[in-house]
Amino acid sequence: MQTKVIRITDPIETEAHLNEAADILRSGGLVVFPTETVYGLGGNGLSQEAAEKIYAAKGRPSNNPLIIHVHDPAEADKYAFAGDLYDRLAAAFMPGPLTVILPKRDNIPYATTGGLETVAVRCPDHPVAHALLAVCDFPVAAPSANLSGSPSPTCADHVISDLTGRVDMIIDGGQCEIGLESTIVKIDHDKEGEYLTLLRPGAITCDALTCVCERVIIANAVLEQLKEGERPLSPGMMYKHYAPKIPLVLLDGDPADVLAFLQKEQKDKSCAILCYLEEMPQLKDENLFLVGARDDLVTQAHTLFSLLREADKTSASIIYAHLPPRDGLGLALYNRLIRAAAHTVKNI
Ligand code: TXA
Ligand code: MG
Repeated sequence: MQTKVIRITDPIETEAHLNEAADILRSGGLVVFPTETVYGLGGNGLSQEAAEKIYAAKGRPSNNPLIIHVHDPAEADKYAFAGDLYDRLAAAFMPGPLTVILPKRDNIPYATTGGLETVAVRCPDHPVAHALLAVCDFPVAAPSANLSGSPSPTCADHVISDLTGRVDMIIDGGQCEIGLESTIVKIDHDKEGEYLTLLRPGAITCDALTCVCERVIIANAVLEQLKEGERPLSPGMMYKHYAPKIPLVLLDGDPADVLAFLQKEQKDKSCAILCYLEEMPQLKDENLFLVGARDDLVTQAHTLFSLLREADKTSASIIYAHLPPRDGLGLALYNRLIRAAAHTVKNI
């Protein structure tokens, strides 16, 4: 398949390109588009065939469901049974990096939801995604636009290297601002009323969610390794997550001790290091990747996936990164890194 790569620059040309992209989607094709989190591999969310094509292009098992992207949060009600709590979440966080799991309506095919009775809905906050969704008269189903086994793409080059020849069009909208996938919550009920289960942490933090819904429960698989035979609440947590080819080890401990450890490791072996700005002057500039200042979690989120791709291209025998804090945006970084490291943490 020929993949057309479109760079978004001029607003008038953009309109023509986005109409072409919408035509491709309408006729069952695949279009990669930028969002504020990561790039998405889009297909018509109402079409079983499009969902099948997405799974094939990505090399992803077809029981790992897709998120449908809508132009306006209120559209959720066309495809799912949204209620009052959804409306409050939408008012607070949409458009934005939040995905909400809702009971699906019949127009959403089981192929899109991986056979589930629920559907994931998201309204992205990115001008190109927004303009594309505006010209589509259907929801756009889109997983992250990486090959299964690669980190989510945060710029068009990542997509081009993973998906050229596998999709009809790639829309290059530059770097994704956030760099980590959306927060996913499921609306649940028990005797005490409604609550949210956090299935995947992201830029909408637990504290922010708590402002809208008092009870937010973090699903086990966010922080811990699933036990043998344990079924996760989100199918995505079941599959082997992205892990670099070179073993990744997370370091935890007093900053001075961790720095001394890294200095020694640089002498003894060939290692790649995802380091903090504060450490840079004291480390050898060899396979050294700057994730951001120690307290600048926003920059760390923005750079993480790209640097993991880069570090994995080196000839190092091991990659070191810091164990992030487990609160705020740190929880999202923690969740991605701990899975990429297969829960390997070295306490120093
Ligand atoms: O930021 C994002 O969410 C990006 C952009 C493109 O929107 N999309 C994304 O999609 O990360 P994907 O498919 O790579 O991750 C979606 C996750 C998967 O782990 C999937 O298992 C879970 O959402 N998911 C989707 N539908 C679900 C459902 N009905 N119930 C539980 N989990 C669901
Ligand atoms: Mg993904």
